[in-house]
Parts: sequence; structure tokens; C-alpha cells
Amino acid sequence: MKFLILNGPNLNLLGSREPGVYGPESYEGLCRRVRDFAAAHGASADCFQSNREGALIDAIHAARGTYDAIVFNPGAFTHYSYALLDALKAVDVPCIEVHISNVHQREEFRHKSVTAPACVGQICGLGLYGYEAAMGYFLAREEPGGKTL
Ligand code: DQA
Repeated sequence: MKFLILNGPNLNLLGSREPGVYGPESYEGLCRRVRDFAAAHGASADCFQSNREGALIDAIHAARGTYDAIVFNPGAFTHYSYALLDALKAVDVPCIEVHISNVHQREEFRHKSVTAPACVGQICGLGLYGYEAAMGYFLAREEPGGKTL
């Protein structure tokens, strides 16, 4: 299974950005972690991060025929990007939305996700483990013999 791990604005600053909210691990550390997790499960993971909406849209389009699943943290775009919603709806690659923090314990504007309706599901508040949980779901879903999920 090939995963695209997609991260939106400001997530390149993981580790130094509000560590009390997002933890001490760097973006590079996150990428190592998801690549190791994928490899340990006979899969692979490519990481892409951008602070630009258009670059994220391009990455979603390019995922067609290349990746089996997307794990996506759209950052603040989550809360208002109808263009990312449309991009996710336009491709047939399943996506799980991940948030490192528990957005429901934070400001009101973070409670709404406009992108989640185009996703299989949403994980929030589990820290970086949320990325692995999302990958684990897709791996379990693909298991020969098929777990019922
Ligand atoms: C975030 C939550 C968003 O509200 C915020 O804008 C982010 C990160 C998270 O991972 O918890 O940039 O997506």
C-alpha cells in the first residue's frame, strides 16, 4: 500500500511551533515516523507539506493512480478551504483527515471542518499517533480476508 502523507500550512514548523499544543517532534521526525510505520507494515509513505493551497490541490490531483490512500492534515485550511474540499471530492483516492490537537477543545472556529465531508473519517487529539492510526485503518481495511471495519 502506498500512502501520501499530506500536511498543510505551518506544519513544517512542528517542534518549534506552539510545542504545548503540537508537541516537541519536528516535521522531519513526523516523516521518519510515518515512513518507518509504513515500512514495518510492508507499505510505503511519501510526505509532502506546503503552506500554499494550490500546491496541496496539485498534490491531491497527482495522487490519482499513484497512491492508495491519503492521510491529510490541512492545518487551518481545514476550516475554510472549499477548494481543498472539491479537490478531495474530485479524486477517487480515499482520505482520512488528521489533526494533532483536539480541535474541539480549542477556539470555536476550529470546531468546523469543511474538508472532513470528503474524507472517510477524521482523527483529532491523538498527537502524531493520529497519522499512524489513519494508516492502520487503511492497512486493516486492505487485509486479505478483510477485517470488517
Ligand atoms: C491542526 C489544527 C488546525 O486548527 C490548525 O490550524 C493547524 C493544525 C492540528 O493538527 O491540530 O494548523 O490541523
